[in-house]
Amino acid sequence: MKHFKWAVGWMGKHKILLLISIIVNIAGVGLMTVEPYIFADLVDNVLMPQQFERLFPMLGLSLLVGLVFSACRYFTSVLAETAAETATLRLKGALFRKLMALPTSYYRENKAGDIINKCSGDVEVISRSMSFVIPRVVEFALMLVVALYVFLRISWQYTLVLLLVTPFTAIAANKMGKQLHPAFKNARKQLSNLNAVVAENIAGNRVVKAFVREDFEMTKFQEENHAYKDRNIEATGIWLKYGPIIDSLASLMTVVNLTFGSIMVVLGRITLGELTLFLTFAWTLNEPLLMLGMLVNDIQRFHASMEKVQELYFWEIEIQDPEEDKTPENVKGALKLDHVTLSYGSTKVLDDICMDVKPGQVIGIMGATGSGKTSLVNVIGRFVDVTEGSVTLDGVDVRDWNLQALRSNIGLTMQDVFLFSDTVESNIAYGVPETSVENIYASATIADAHSFVSKMPEGYDTIVGERGTGLSGGQKQRISLARALAKHAPLLILDDTTSAVDMETEQYIQEQLAAMPDKSTTIIIAQRVSSVKQADYIYILEKGRVIEEGTHSDLMKLKGYYYHTCVMQHGLEDMEGGEQ
Ligand SMILES: Nc1ncnc2c1ncn2[C@@H]1O[C@H](COP(=O)(O)OP(=O)(O)OP(=O)(O)O)[C@@H](O)[C@H]1O
Ligand SMILES: [Mg+2]
Repeated sequence: MKHFKWAVGWMGKHKILLLISIIVNIAGVGLMTVEPYIFADLVDNVLMPQQFERLFPMLGLSLLVGLVFSACRYFTSVLAETAAETATLRLKGALFRKLMALPTSYYRENKAGDIINKCSGDVEVISRSMSFVIPRVVEFALMLVVALYVFLRISWQYTLVLLLVTPFTAIAANKMGKQLHPAFKNARKQLSNLNAVVAENIAGNRVVKAFVREDFEMTKFQEENHAYKDRNIEATGIWLKYGPIIDSLASLMTVVNLTFGSIMVVLGRITLGELTLFLTFAWTLNEPLLMLGMLVNDIQRFHASMEKVQELYFWEIEIQDPEEDKTPENVKGALKLDHVTLSYGSTKVLDDICMDVKPGQVIGIMGATGSGKTSLVNVIGRFVDVTEGSVTLDGVDVRDWNLQALRSNIGLTMQDVFLFSDTVESNIAYGVPETSVENIYASATIADAHSFVSKMPEGYDTIVGERGTGLSGGQKQRISLARALAKHAPLLILDDTTSAVDMETEQYIQEQLAAMPDKSTTIIIAQRVSSVKQADYIYILEKGRVIEEGTHSDLMKLKGYYYHTCVMQHGLEDMEGGEQ
């Protein structure tokens, strides 16, 4: 009931449509019960006494009742469908909003195929339950009550005999429903495994080709594909097992009905018309019982899907806006990390990091792979919260900032570049959709993207693929840099942004960045000494700790990690040149 209430809540104002649909449905069922009475009357008072003057008016009435009943059914469906579609639309929207707010950890822990299923397949199951199952349940419950009432009024003995057979049908239908539930659940689970293989192969198709693993992937897919077929066959098998039993019971009921009814007619306990009434109503009684299995199964599927959808919808988001934010205005870009520690379980990824960055300063961060550089970016942009210590931007703890305001004040290029399947222009303007073309061109120029973009046949209107296919790694990096620059944020973080561009291009970009009039506080994360050499201050990370810090010349004197990396990358000569 709680699940149904929640689902109906999504209909908003259209809830009223569902209510009207149920009322129309009840009216329809009410009308349908009139029909058997017309037949009974026809048999007893027209056909038997052979007084045919009422024949045509009664047939006309029967036709009219049938037509109105059809109209009721039609409107029940239309109204319930409209209400359910509204709920589906709103629920899907809400789930998508939730998806955008979910922490990155959710995406690591859940397969993309599963997430997509929750937002589409499971919502569809819920929608069907509302548009089809609810009206049917109301209809059948009502039919049962009416049929029982009619039977009891005519003859309780006859009713009792009928009721002896019906429990068997109900038991069989219920048993089938119970077995079908896990079978369908398995099938759905298997479908999401199958989807996961497809999704992975779409994203990783180049890896598959490069390692010549097409056959392996095909086998993997076929295994899942066959398993899905098997799960479906298992579910069908359950139908096949119980279907004949239920059908036989239905036939048995008709036979019992006919036999007992005929005896009662012969004995003069009921009229022939009443026998017709019984036969017609017996069918009304049987249909709900036959459908019981299917409905029980539908309701169970509804609950299973609901659990999955609610799990996503109510997933706790640890990183939220503070109740009262202290977001500063006119942000200058002063960044401070005060004894920052970040742990995942018992592993410390950042360990007691302190940094004090003045507005407009350029900071370089280097360190071996896995030393915690990207984790540092994550705590600054609140993609994850520090375990201990604090990060402040312009003197305000990032946890006290309005989350969107915080991120709006950071221009970020990520290590794994992602471009949307859209034009180059839209990709660069992604963070500032209303920006001028001049700003887009200027940002692209600083990022050294303008030259190659303007040489493309369609220039800035070129559509880049889902992951920027058609562009080289360095080109993608440059567009992603332009995208960060176009925001003109007070804090600019470049995570490995020029790793795929040549030294010359890198130098050009650095000069352009240095010449920018409104200089942002800039954090450059890199593996190359050349990327950070010019920085005002450099930090070297190792296993989440700062092991060296200072200017280029300070660090050279230390003769530690920085010095040795410099020697390795540039040789002794160049290194000495840089020291001056
Ligand atoms: N969500 C996570 N859960 C557990 N460990 C994590 C998680 N994210 C990162 N790590 C670990 O934290 C450490 C630092 O990772 P990080 O991505 O910050 O390194 P990095 O310095 O950016 O490396 P690279 O130079 O390769 O980009 C790694 O050992 C990594 O395995
Ligand atoms: Mg990294």
